[in-house]
Amino acid sequence: TELTPFKNEPFTDFSVPANKADMEAALRKVKSELGRDYPLWIGADKVMTDGKTVSINPGDVDQVVGRVSKATKEHAEKAMNAALATFETWKKVPAEKRAEYLFKAAQLMRERKHEFSAWMVFEAGKNWVEADADTAEAIDFMEFYGREMIRLSETNLHRPLPKIPSEDNKIAYIPLGVGIVIPPWNFPLAICVGMTTAAIVSGNTVLLKPASVTPVIAHKFVELMEEVGLPAGVINFVPGSGGEIGDYLTSHPKTRFVSFTGSKEVGLHISELAARTAPGQIWIKRLIAEMGGKDGIVVDETADLEAAAQAIVVSAFGFQGQKCSAGSRAFVVESVYDEVVERVRALTEKWTVGLPEQNYPAGPVSDKGAYEKILEYIEVGKKEGRLVVGGGNAEGNGYYIQPTVFADVDGKARIMQEEIFGPVLAIGKAKDYKEAIALYNDTEFGLTGSFFSRDEDHIAYAFEEMHCGNLYVNRKCTGALVGVHPFGGFNMSGTDSKAGGYDYLLLFTQAKATSRKI
Ligand code: SER
Repeated sequence: TELTPFKNEPFTDFSVPANKADMEAALRKVKSELGRDYPLWIGADKVMTDGKTVSINPGDVDQVVGRVSKATKEHAEKAMNAALATFETWKKVPAEKRAEYLFKAAQLMRERKHEFSAWMVFEAGKNWVEADADTAEAIDFMEFYGREMIRLSETNLHRPLPKIPSEDNKIAYIPLGVGIVIPPWNFPLAICVGMTTAAIVSGNTVLLKPASVTPVIAHKFVELMEEVGLPAGVINFVPGSGGEIGDYLTSHPKTRFVSFTGSKEVGLHISELAARTAPGQIWIKRLIAEMGGKDGIVVDETADLEAAAQAIVVSAFGFQGQKCSAGSRAFVVESVYDEVVERVRALTEKWTVGLPEQNYPAGPVSDKGAYEKILEYIEVGKKEGRLVVGGGNAEGNGYYIQPTVFADVDGKARIMQEEIFGPVLAIGKAKDYKEAIALYNDTEFGLTGSFFSRDEDHIAYAFEEMHCGNLYVNRKCTGALVGVHPFGGFNMSGTDSKAGGYDYLLLFTQAKATSRKI
């Protein structure tokens, strides 16, 4: 059967009454299902443990979203054995068949889109639009990686090796083995689905350790894969603490690769652990790591200042600034500086805070630890810059923080250098666009950036000089689309793995060249 070309899943327009009603119905349905218990998945076994991670709604902390079983080292070891055994059969399943599971899951997720989004409204504190984009991206990843695996399996057809008369030469991309998948909580469906399905469609089996604050939505995905008939043991679901089972699995001699998305600190820790050779280990573990960002937007004197201000605010405060792509910095040339700061202030004041279920522009941050850390950074900011708007917590029975803007911040200030992962924007002034770009580049990270200008020479300079994995001109620096914007960053932002790009599955495979004398 002919596959249609990849196309991004459209976002839902909630101003259409029927869409709004559908979303409200999904929210009611999910609300009636909150508070349940979820097991570990080890091969074909569902294991309910006494010790549980309690997932709560960060926007209403008295609401329990679910209680998810916690794996111990013994569970992790069993899951590893299940994954190793399943690998022997799964690796032989043809690429098109493996892709078929992803296509089926994408279709079911599309049919139940609002239900998946509703789980994220309750568990991650996403508003409707953010949750809808997350679900759409999850669907995209499955559609994209399914097609990518088929394309990779047809390499000899599309990109034959140079011919010599005496031999028949071919190349095949074969799987690596058992992988540990450690996704983040901020795109608790999209990135969890993307990382996991890329690994399995390539023929690997995995141990999926979901983020501790969003394990329920991860479980919904695992259930979906069972529903489409994915063989048991291909995805083993092992929620648990990073310190206990995360480290154990990363260090395990049978672990072939680790795919991680999360903070710089945890990423570097995993990188060190994975670099050591355990007794009995016969390979160098592969690490795919997507880490933090201190992304920013640069505005020159020729820019459309209202468009720039809107992009700054959306990039800084979308999902409370909890995206690795979030634009937590802005550098504006001095001739238009005051005007941009004023426009940003005015737009930020309209960015109201409230319960995600009621679809406010801003919701809560992820958890208590993040909440306290962000509030501390706001206090640091009060010493490092001029508070323009916000500056503290916001009302509500959850982890609400006012969208906060600091102006006149020095490029070396902590709030300009350290990833806050919350609704805090630092704005700095530059004498011209070259100085602004130099300030933008003065970071250990290098994930996303935007440049606002109408001057072709300035734009050419920015394309050349701004050092980041995803550089945008005259648009926001968040919201990469699968396929369209292969996503990943430089330096401390990670291994630049370009999720949703044509090179991604190569990271989960190894190339076997075969030569036969004729
Ligand atoms: N891919 C997301 C974005 O571009 C971040 O992870 O916003």
